Amino acid sequence: MRFLTGKARLAGVIGWPVGHSRSPRLHGFWIERHRLDAAYVPLAVRPDSLVVALSGLRAAGFAGANVTIPHKQAAMALCDRVEPFARKAGAVNTIVFEAGAVVGRNTDGFGFVANLRSHGVAPAAGPALVLGAGGAAMAVAAALQDEGASVRIANRTRARAEALAGSLGGIAVVAWEDISGALADVALLVNTTSLGMTGQPPLEIDLAGAPPDLAVADIVYAPLETRLLAAARAAGLRAVEGLGMLLHQARPGFAAWFGVDPEVDAALYEVVAADLRT
Ligand code: ATR
Repeated sequence: MRFLTGKARLAGVIGWPVGHSRSPRLHGFWIERHRLDAAYVPLAVRPDSLVVALSGLRAAGFAGANVTIPHKQAAMALCDRVEPFARKAGAVNTIVFEAGAVVGRNTDGFGFVANLRSHGVAPAAGPALVLGAGGAAMAVAAALQDEGASVRIANRTRARAEALAGSLGGIAVVAWEDISGALADVALLVNTTSLGMTGQPPLEIDLAGAPPDLAVADIVYAPLETRLLAAARAAGLRAVEGLGMLLHQARPGFAAWFGVDPEVDAALYEVVAADLRT
């Protein structure tokens, strides 16, 4: 164990509760690997304390913070500047305290696309079908659009899919009941719902009608391999697991706070995956 100096760079993750967050583990891994004079800590902040916590961290010289549930929307209103992608996604997950300003970013879209690419999947090879209409769906759909993909959305509650399509523009809504039949001309299927997560029901979808070059991505990472991904692999399709998105979305924050663009590799994957298995 190395010790911090008085000049150490500081960052952390703000959440309530924050105990479930994997971010201290993964940022800590990179800090160790690069032997940085830096620390990344969990910050348990109640919703009604977000304002005071942010100004306190800034006053105390923190370089910035990640923001997780339930603060992602509220944090946006507290930033002096919000990057265009975060504005589009409607949420901030990364805050950088710059000289004169609190800057809000959303790195989920970057993480999703970087994870696809690391699996050799081109984000805009053809139409993408995104399942779900929550905050994660918004970031994924916006990122795919930015990459030039044509995006379709299906959600159990159709009105939410229509609201998301309306806010991003240029998105077709597919009926939830029709998702299996809607795969025929799709190049990428993405699950952003909570279906398949430990303790939740599985996603019911029939991949029999999928084209052979379909890539299937799940943003669920607990379990590491969902039934959807196992079914995709069994059908000979490419499968992209969710943990990689979590790891890649952490990179821009780390680079901004600590000055090193860190690498997502097998060693990091194993450390965080081992944590998830316990
Ligand atoms: P997040 O912001 O993390 O993406 P969310 O807003 O809670 O999460 O969204 C969860 C997604 O999972 C929603 O798209 C939700 O569908 P509804 O909008 O109809 O609620 C979807 N979801 C959760 N349970 C589901 C279920 N049993 N069947 C189908 N979709 C489900």
